[in-house]
Amino acid sequence: MTRPFETVTLTINGEPVGLPVNPASRLSEVLREGLGLRGTKVGCDAGDCGACTVLLDGAPVCACLTPAAQAAGRHVTTVEGLTATRLQQSFLRHGAAQCGICTPGMLMTATALLERNPNPTRSEAEEALGGVLCRCTGYTRILDAVLDTAPGDAPAMPEAGQSVGAMLERLDGVPKVDGTESYGADHAPEGALLVRAVRAPGAPMHFTLGDLEAWQAAQSGPVHVFTAEDILGVNRFGVIPAFVDQPALAQSHVRMRGEAVALVAGEPAVIEALDLSTFPVTWTDAPKDAPVHDTHPDDLLIAGVVRRGDAAAALKRATYVVSGHMRTGYVEHAYIEPEAGVAWMEGDVLAIRACTQAPIMDRDYTARILGLPPERVRMIPAATGGGFGAKLDLSLQPLIGLVTLKTGRPARMIYSRAESMATTTKRHPSDMRGEIGVDAEGRLVGMTFDGDFNTGAYASWGPTVSGRVPVHASGPYYIPNYDADARANYSYEPISGAFRGFGVPQAALLQETLFDELAEKAGIDRLKFRQLNALRDGQDTVCGQVLHGVGMTDCLEALEDPWGKALAWAEAENAKGGHMRHGVGIASCWYGCGNTGIPNPSTIRVGITAQGELYLHQGAVDIGQGSNTVIAQICADALGLPIAQMQIIDADTARTPDCGKTSGSRQTYVTGSAALRAGAALRQRILQMTNMGEDATLRLEGQTLKVSDGQAARHIDLSTLEADTNGYVLVAEETYDPPTRSLDENGQGAPYAVYGYGAQVASVAVDTRLGIVKVTHITAAHDLGRVINPILAEGQVQGGIAQGLGMALMEEYVPDRTENLHDYLIPTTGDMPPIDTIFLEVPDPEGPMGAKGLGEHVLIPTAPAILNAIRHATGALVTELPALPHRVLAAMREVKG
Ligand code: FES
Ligand code: FES
Repeated sequence: MTRPFETVTLTINGEPVGLPVNPASRLSEVLREGLGLRGTKVGCDAGDCGACTVLLDGAPVCACLTPAAQAAGRHVTTVEGLTATRLQQSFLRHGAAQCGICTPGMLMTATALLERNPNPTRSEAEEALGGVLCRCTGYTRILDAVLDTAPGDAPAMPEAGQSVGAMLERLDGVPKVDGTESYGADHAPEGALLVRAVRAPGAPMHFTLGDLEAWQAAQSGPVHVFTAEDILGVNRFGVIPAFVDQPALAQSHVRMRGEAVALVAGEPAVIEALDLSTFPVTWTDAPKDAPVHDTHPDDLLIAGVVRRGDAAAALKRATYVVSGHMRTGYVEHAYIEPEAGVAWMEGDVLAIRACTQAPIMDRDYTARILGLPPERVRMIPAATGGGFGAKLDLSLQPLIGLVTLKTGRPARMIYSRAESMATTTKRHPSDMRGEIGVDAEGRLVGMTFDGDFNTGAYASWGPTVSGRVPVHASGPYYIPNYDADARANYSYEPISGAFRGFGVPQAALLQETLFDELAEKAGIDRLKFRQLNALRDGQDTVCGQVLHGVGMTDCLEALEDPWGKALAWAEAENAKGGHMRHGVGIASCWYGCGNTGIPNPSTIRVGITAQGELYLHQGAVDIGQGSNTVIAQICADALGLPIAQMQIIDADTARTPDCGKTSGSRQTYVTGSAALRAGAALRQRILQMTNMGEDATLRLEGQTLKVSDGQAARHIDLSTLEADTNGYVLVAEETYDPPTRSLDENGQGAPYAVYGYGAQVASVAVDTRLGIVKVTHITAAHDLGRVINPILAEGQVQGGIAQGLGMALMEEYVPDRTENLHDYLIPTTGDMPPIDTIFLEVPDPEGPMGAKGLGEHVLIPTAPAILNAIRHATGALVTELPALPHRVLAAMREVKG
């Protein structure tokens, strides 16, 4: 029974407030929806993530678990109540906020800690923050920030031409620490309808809808219902035009649990109160052995292949040969922000503001579904509270768009944690076999790889995974004979899509663990084995592509010292005896940046107004990785003006040119290259206007652009120039598309123009009685070509390692069982080891200022390095991930025989 509203009086951020609320309603709800204090975030509504942490009389509590009545007469402090504290400044200085969705919860928890203990130790801080999850940072920089709140100056803004490489705070950092950053759930236009989806309880199933009108009439207020019948366009979407197979709303048949079959919309109080289990729909089981899609009778979506030389013959000739089998399960992205967004009409244009990694693609598929031309849909990416690949696919955009189009009212939808986990994409489960051989000196002579990747009910990024895996399954090594196949297969299970690495992290597990066995057989140190076989400048890959700017041997050389020390540590620890065994592992990575052998251009516009304002139209969605900052750094230096003068116009399909998707570690390289060109083109234009040489210095002072070169000085009075339709008197717009060559039927070609390289050393302690693995240290060496922003780059490494560690040891998504953040475990502060990061700068001839991508690379070596360390410690190779204690113990039993 709904309890009547009562006036609850409390003090919020020092101000007394009296609110008529249901006393049982969540404090988080009251703060966010009642008072508009949306700095407090909601990631789970179940006490698992800590994003909603506020202070109640100075003590941290989960606002989602605190009834409003419990706060009566007490003092509540939210992130809005912090005013440029030292802690907030420290978060900025240390780059402790990436996507920023966890930041308010972290700040509040740390504020309480520092209040009671101004000088905590690292382990005290780890313990205090242990209940707040962060999926981006790996926690290192958050802990650094909490432990370093002494007043410190923000790094000075760099001079003209000195942005790239500078220790520059992220340009969009302040709203992340003051609570004003606006995510998908944070914008609520007046009068917005609330939208919920009716979803399938299992799959495969057929369904029929019952008497909708009778059900609507029985509710406490007006409820709109929309089904597939209401969709005016093509009820299909996907991410690759040739593989568009997913309905926005299912029609009579569902292929996966959680598939949406109807929408309900209305006033928030009415919609929240609905019991959707009464919705009139009849479900019947469909045969599980029928093909998932009639178009693919064998459930094979697509196969990818790379063949070079004669792998079978080479393996026959090889001195040492090893073979293996590795399986991995579903891995959930577990970003802290569940999908959310809002739609409204702007004249006859449908505007949608939602979390996303791909605004142009969202616009085009949403328009197609709704039967609109693309120019009648405007996509405005909200701040995105973590993506890691899953927010590349459409989720609620066409659903809220449909409601707004049909009703003319703004429509708002916020996925629950369970809805987010059940219905969005995952990392592909894999089942892989391989064989690798070396000659008597330990040089690789041949390799085979064969992998099945479960792509779930719809294609999503399955074709990309099956294409990328054979290209990368060799690892960054020279292998003259190679035969690799990867298949993406349909199933009636959750959709697998893009997740940091597109299948490459799975493939690296098999290859890198087999390498350790080969090194052992050949009697070569495992690091040296990799050095012996690493790709070198001028060598060709398994695709026959000759590479330049290859920093693989540089990364391995940088790890020689940490490797030696880690081995000595393990030996010394093991000499002590006991049930704890210690081990060290190493693994490498390479990863091609951008799309595989197909165009993926980015376009950047930079302009100066008559008033002397400098604007960068930056359409690459910053999901926390830092593209807003990095792209601006590159453009500012190419132009020759200080970055402090550059204002960023964020991604918005109505205002920014197409910068493609935030995927494939492509934004620094591809959009960075467009930014380099745009900055350089605008500079050229200015130099030509003033007849100055290449070395001239630019200064923007009010309405005057001053250009000087030695003794010569000229001025441009900007106010006298004619403005274009965008209001710019000086402007440049440039496009960059990677020069790739598509793969032939044997996978030969030049699939990527730029690759990045890296290797990591992991140290572990294994409890041989319980099978529990503790990662005690990681050293990561990555070749970035050029480090554009050291703070952001290091944050990417630490965050990627955290996700790799989770994949190795704890993360396993089981449909219908782990659709929440207490059964699906991700690393917390206490799981993360100290991480040393080493950056190498081997310039890439194609990358902007030599830069290469980084975002996905950093996750790839972590899990195989950990598995190799477990094997080093125990002699047992775990061949099914995650390496949960029972699997570690089973692998050890197998070794003992
Ligand atoms: S939203 Fe309250 S703990 Fe997750
Ligand atoms: S910065 Fe912590 S979840 Fe993104």
